[in-house]
Amino acid sequence: MLRRLTRRSAQTRVRTQTRSHEGARRRGRAFVAAAVLSSLLAACDGGTASSAGADAATGATANAARAHDADANPRAAQAVKLMKIAVPAQSGQSRAEVYAQVRRMTALGKQMFFDPSLSGSGKMSCASCHSPDHAFTPANSLGVQMGGADMRRQGMRAVPTLKYLQAVPAFAEHYHDSDDEGDESVDAGPTGGLTWDGRVDRASDQARIPLLSTFEMASSPKKVAAAVRAAPYAGAFREAFGARVFDDDDATWKAVLKSLETFEQSPEVFYPYTSKYDAYLAGKATLTAAEMRGLQLFNDEKRGNCASCHISQRAKDGSPPQFSDFGLIAVGVPRNRALAVNRDRRFYDLGACGPERTDLGHRAEFCGLFRTPTLRNVALKQSFFHNGIYHSLEDVLRFYARRDTNPEAFYPVVKGKVEKFDDLPRRYWANLNTDPPFDRKPGDAPVFSDAEIKDVIAFLGTLTDGWQPGAH
Ligand code: HEC
Ligand code: HEC
Repeated sequence: MLRRLTRRSAQTRVRTQTRSHEGARRRGRAFVAAAVLSSLLAACDGGTASSAGADAATGATANAARAHDADANPRAAQAVKLMKIAVPAQSGQSRAEVYAQVRRMTALGKQMFFDPSLSGSGKMSCASCHSPDHAFTPANSLGVQMGGADMRRQGMRAVPTLKYLQAVPAFAEHYHDSDDEGDESVDAGPTGGLTWDGRVDRASDQARIPLLSTFEMASSPKKVAAAVRAAPYAGAFREAFGARVFDDDDATWKAVLKSLETFEQSPEVFYPYTSKYDAYLAGKATLTAAEMRGLQLFNDEKRGNCASCHISQRAKDGSPPQFSDFGLIAVGVPRNRALAVNRDRRFYDLGACGPERTDLGHRAEFCGLFRTPTLRNVALKQSFFHNGIYHSLEDVLRFYARRDTNPEAFYPVVKGKVEKFDDLPRRYWANLNTDPPFDRKPGDAPVFSDAEIKDVIAFLGTLTDGWQPGAH
């Protein structure tokens, strides 16, 4: 079996080699998503874990059954974990009731996800930016989306997919992963958290951001509560959260956030693992010659080295690769001059050190870092990188292949001089990753030829969910 590749760079590596308690605690992969259901179950399970429970928990039972499948599906693992959590808990609802509640919240969350009445403009729902047909990224090819009360305010970041977020660990400055070459003492550097800069850990906290943002849904807890009270699903909402839930805007608001979070964890929608590559790993599909060449280039540590950050192999516990190690990394993406915020020459989106994220603002070593996105379903996206500067995988791959051999093709040239890394002030350049593919200089051969770029793109196409045997 191939060695699982790990992220290596001066910036991310080994700031502390000590085996810390922090590391040990996080090792078990603090799945953001699992936390909600487990807290829900822990809070209210009565331990009447008998036939009724199993019955109502059909989804979980089916998933649990699949745990015996050689695929070692983490969905199954999660379901087993949930059921285990459910059984020994102290008091309250039965397991059947808990699962029924999860189902109610999922259904409500789904309705709200598509409901524009929650927004200040009345025109924008979560799905306006996170379209289910595009792996929950926009249906249009704008680099960043328009929003706000008048729908005329421009955002500053590209919309990430909402799929496979269940695997994102809570943010940690020093991440220790037992899966990391079996050496938990290796510090993988800042890792995890939701959004491009990892600034929130829970999807319910995340949902506040677009709902309240003046350039997104531009709403308020009060408006959201009023919209839900008037919505066709108001009755179902009362059934799920109690007859008095509408007495208190704050209670309504919290229930909305929780429902959205619960919906975003539906395994069959958000982490189905139904790509051709998953079938290939399970021995149920064969890659074409081009896809196979692409996979090799993707994994080759001296060439693409893509898998060092976008993990392509199963974890030691057999769970499928997420195509991200969720590390926060600086790759020096060019400034997107089409963005309104960038008209101000002094403005920089520096990711983990701000301005959207505020807790690490004084820490220079976090400037320019963005969370490595999953590449699952990346072929369905139409804008790439945190600032949406590129609109095709060809352009992204060309950037990786030639950023350092032909920087003039990506960055502005002023008076014959290339202004490399034009979206990161020079004082933060030490944060930039310098491992392959970022280890070349002008005059060297590009990392990939054009033909090889096509192969890597062919491989990336195998990461799209919904593959059917017999299809390509
Ligand atoms: C105007 C477009 C827009 C709307 C509407 C919108 N989002 Fe987003 N969403 C974004 C952008 C842009 C980001 C990245 C934000 C950042 O990095 O600061 C994001 C990030 C996220 C993330 C984190 C993804 C990750 O990779 O960590 C989640 C979860 C999410 N949105 C859920 C929602 C939900 C739920 C709603 C509805 C309540 C919603 N979004 C509405 C644009 C939008
Ligand atoms: C050192 C870690 C690292 C390596 C190596 C790496 N990536 Fe990335 N990748 C990232 C980060 C971080 C981002 C987001 C950067 C940003 O937006 O500022 C990213 C973004 C991307 C995106 C855009 C995805 C999206 O949703 O916008 C694609 C596609 C991609 N990488 C493919 C590759 C390929 C192919 C390779 C190998 C040639 C590779 N990456 C190598 C860390 C890495």
